[in-house]
Amino acid sequence: MNQQIAKFSRIGFVLSATGAAVGLGNIWKFPYITGVYGGGAFVMVYLVTILLIGASLLIAEMVIGKRGQKDCVGSFEEIAPKNAKGWKYAGLMLFTGLVIMTFYSVVIGWIFYYIYISFIGLPTNLQDAKDTFDALYSNSAALQIVLHLFSVVFVAVVLLGGIKKGIEKTNLILIPLLLFILLGLLVYAINFDGFTKAVDFMFAPDFSKLNSEAIIRAVGHSFFTLSIGVGSIMTYAAALPKHSNIYKAGMMVAFMDTLIALIAGLVIFSFLFEFGGAPDKGPGLVFVSLPIIFAKLGTIGTAIALVFFLAMAVAGLTSAISLVEPTVMYLEQRLGWFRKKAVIVSSGVYFVVGVLVIFSISNGYKEFFTFGGKSLFDLLEFSVDSFLMPLGGVLIALFVGFVLKRDIVEGELLGHMGNGVFKIWYFSIRYIAPIAVLFLAYNALKV
Ligand code: TRP
Repeated sequence: MNQQIAKFSRIGFVLSATGAAVGLGNIWKFPYITGVYGGGAFVMVYLVTILLIGASLLIAEMVIGKRGQKDCVGSFEEIAPKNAKGWKYAGLMLFTGLVIMTFYSVVIGWIFYYIYISFIGLPTNLQDAKDTFDALYSNSAALQIVLHLFSVVFVAVVLLGGIKKGIEKTNLILIPLLLFILLGLLVYAINFDGFTKAVDFMFAPDFSKLNSEAIIRAVGHSFFTLSIGVGSIMTYAAALPKHSNIYKAGMMVAFMDTLIALIAGLVIFSFLFEFGGAPDKGPGLVFVSLPIIFAKLGTIGTAIALVFFLAMAVAGLTSAISLVEPTVMYLEQRLGWFRKKAVIVSSGVYFVVGVLVIFSISNGYKEFFTFGGKSLFDLLEFSVDSFLMPLGGVLIALFVGFVLKRDIVEGELLGHMGNGVFKIWYFSIRYIAPIAVLFLAYNALKV
């Protein structure tokens, strides 16, 4: 029961929280939505919301974990004032992680497949590339289940090692590797003419392209990319040593997350503009458009494809670890389960639902897993994006802004932030963040 949680080292925490934040959202989603919504102006909104709202919420989530030093439910309960212990139920946001994993792990499986086809031969033209992806997506349920299982097993093995030997160690190796690969690709692309075009596309804002839908997507993505509202960051922060500076750690994580998204975007758009490809084709950007380009480059292209998909797998897996750990820690601490049982049961649950998710996009089965015209895949993703994560975000903001005693909050942050920054942060948490998140959820539900 309530065992002491093993503690991260400082660098271990920053890299693990970076691993949680940096995921498919950075390398796959950020570039393709930037492409769809026209580049510069969209990126600007994204950067401003990360700074004003995202980073504030990230720090707020860290406050709860670091103060509570328990699983999410336990942390809310521990630090809530006596008359507000019911807030412990807010900690149940931790199950959102498993919901996300039911489809996130399936997508990680696709990346494994692309690592494999980098070896056996990339598609060489658009039709070929579309067919390759489509064959996997709609006609290979069994293969997808096996690949999904690989990802489930990898994550489970890391989780069995616990905070220090599993999570910290894995992130200490993989996050530097990820950075190294992305920087390597950036250096390779920097002499392209396409690179200058990519910089222009991403950083020269054209506000005429900015409609309300683009703004909503940018704000929404700024939450998703920082992994806010799921209890992952809270759970990791529960394993922080007493005197850690969570302001600095939070800003560092937000910075790394943004940096990696921007580098990924620059790399992808440089290749695209150099070798001809449209930026606004949506989710197929990395699975359809990029492989053709890599194929054109011959042997070096194969190598680039390989490290690129490897980087994507790394980004996905380190996030996956953080999506399941909150449930594992909860089962361990609240129900007194052994870690092994907690890992096996939670992995088993999202594995099975993930199999249904795969059926929901596979020809021949999808009719049985489609509800109101939406596949189970879409439904789960939609409920996470527009309901579960915003709910988690609002609960965190309201709890830290209004329920938690101000001394506690000040005790964690004031000394590190200084008065001015603290005031801005506190205002953002009490008013700007909850309103922005509610506005977002409302708009997402409307569409
Ligand atoms: N931030 C992750 C990404 O960019 C996705 C994600 C959302 C996530 N919520 C999370 C990851 C919670 C870990 C924990 O891909």
